Amino acid sequence: MKLLILLGPPGAGKGTQAQLLTSKYGYVQLSTGDMLRAAVKAGSEVGKQAEAIMKSGGLVSDEIVTKLIADRLDGESQATGFIFDGYPRTQAQAESLDALLSERGLKLDHVIELDVDEDALVDRISGRYTCARCNEGYHDRYKLPKTAGVCDVCGSTEFKRRPDDNAETVRTRLAEYRAKTAPILPYYEAKGLVTRVDGMADIEDVTASIDRILGEETVGTPA
Ligand code: AP5
Ligand code: MG
Repeated sequence: MKLLILLGPPGAGKGTQAQLLTSKYGYVQLSTGDMLRAAVKAGSEVGKQAEAIMKSGGLVSDEIVTKLIADRLDGESQATGFIFDGYPRTQAQAESLDALLSERGLKLDHVIELDVDEDALVDRISGRYTCARCNEGYHDRYKLPKTAGVCDVCGSTEFKRRPDDNAETVRTRLAEYRAKTAPILPYYEAKGLVTRVDGMADIEDVTASIDRILGEETVGTPA
């Protein structure tokens, strides 16, 4: 069982890398952003509480997101690994995650920090779109479908863009990252879990760097 956190500001490539690792290794992607968007779409109580906050670029309450993560951890008993994408985002969430994991006899293996140049993020985020059916991620310039207008994965021709992907909201999301999320890095550094990866490299090169981190772990484990 491998457990890794992908940490980085909006647009750093957390979702992109999590999806690639999921298809490669069969790990389960736990994205609180995706869970919250699903709740908003479903019109659930959580969705109603989260919608306006997400639109503004602020953070949803620690209690709500931790409950979402706990429910998913319990629902995936067959998983070979978990990739936390966009969670934890505050010190309180980091501590709650530790408690959730230890209650289940699980332990984090890696915290991967995707290091990016903030100026590139607005460009990345404003070009981003996803398949409306299977949620595969694309970008107007950096990741086009192989056949224009057709999803590589499921063949759908319907795509969507996120309501929080506009320049003003992105600035708030970045400010939230700097104020509340980046400060949790020392907590994981003290546990020796953090590896920094160049998130400005090409998508495949970022994946290769993460592969090396996961591979080192495998090599280092006695048979
Ligand atoms: P969330 O959905 O987590 O959004 P985010 O953190 O702002 O991150 P993004 O999804 O925008 O970026 P990403 O790093 O996944 O980048 P991606 O791979 O798509 O959260 C949304 C909202 O939900 C929050 O603002 C908050 O309100 C709420 N929320 C969620 N979790 C919460 C929590 N734990 N606590 C409280 N509130 C929470 O890549 C971006 C684009 O760039 C794509 O188009 C991609 O193709 C392209 N790209 C990726 N990598 C590269 C590369 N190496 N080179 C070139 N292009 C690339
Ligand atoms: Mg994402």
